[in-house]
Amino acid sequence: MARQPMSRLPLDPENFIRKNTALETPAMVPEFKLWLATEYVPIWLATETWLEEQNVDPPYWAFCWPGGQAIARFLLDNPARVRGKAVIDFAAGSGVSSMAAARAGAASVIANDIDLLSLIAARLNAEANGLIVATSADDWLAGADAMPEADVVIAGDVCYEKEMSVRALAWLRGHANAGRLVLLGDPGRNYFSAQGLEELARYEIPTSLQLENRGMRETVVWRVLPLP
Ligand SMILES: C[S@@+](CC[C@H](N)C(=O)[O-])C[C@H]1O[C@@H](n2cnc3c(N)ncnc32)[C@H](O)[C@@H]1O
Repeated sequence: MARQPMSRLPLDPENFIRKNTALETPAMVPEFKLWLATEYVPIWLATETWLEEQNVDPPYWAFCWPGGQAIARFLLDNPARVRGKAVIDFAAGSGVSSMAAARAGAASVIANDIDLLSLIAARLNAEANGLIVATSADDWLAGADAMPEADVVIAGDVCYEKEMSVRALAWLRGHANAGRLVLLGDPGRNYFSAQGLEELARYEIPTSLQLENRGMRETVVWRVLPLP
């Protein structure tokens, strides 16, 4: 059995999301509006103490990270990659890549994240754009029993911590070796490795200075190749 997440939830999750974010358009994906942090609702300035009081984990879901935006842009511009296919989005955060897969005509899309609040945000975001995205809170890196069927596996911005990156890259490689199309969006994070990857697209993505320490991040959509 895949290990269940230990994530936290505020008392009224939907209200928490709406109160602490605003419906915004990500720079690279003007087709969509999502509940995101802005300079007027700067949830990234929240202290650990405040997040703990609200019973909330660090709100990764309140941003469209460059990796996820790059995958979303790529799928919207290349819908044939997912049209009619079963797509799973590992570490979906806001769900922006899942939404693009759904808009591009995927037969089914599952947004996965171990943060339960992220899955509620992903559902609200999909609904705000008239899209349907299923969600899964299973920790897919912890065991394969509960894995849904998939033709395409997507993952945006998952190489920011050492342990997770190593496990995620190995897990993604396993899907590529099983014959699935595996797409990884990455802006050159510390623990990313291009070994056994093929570049499919490259974008300059505007980012928040507070979050990324720079106003732009070059971000690549990679195909994870099967390796013997
Ligand atoms: C930097 S965010 C990227 C979110 C989204 N893919 C994007 O690009 O906007 C990383 C996400 O990974 C999730 N995460 C961390 N470990 C995970 C795991 N083992 N399984 C699923 N999600 C995980 C976090 O909760 C967070 O939402």
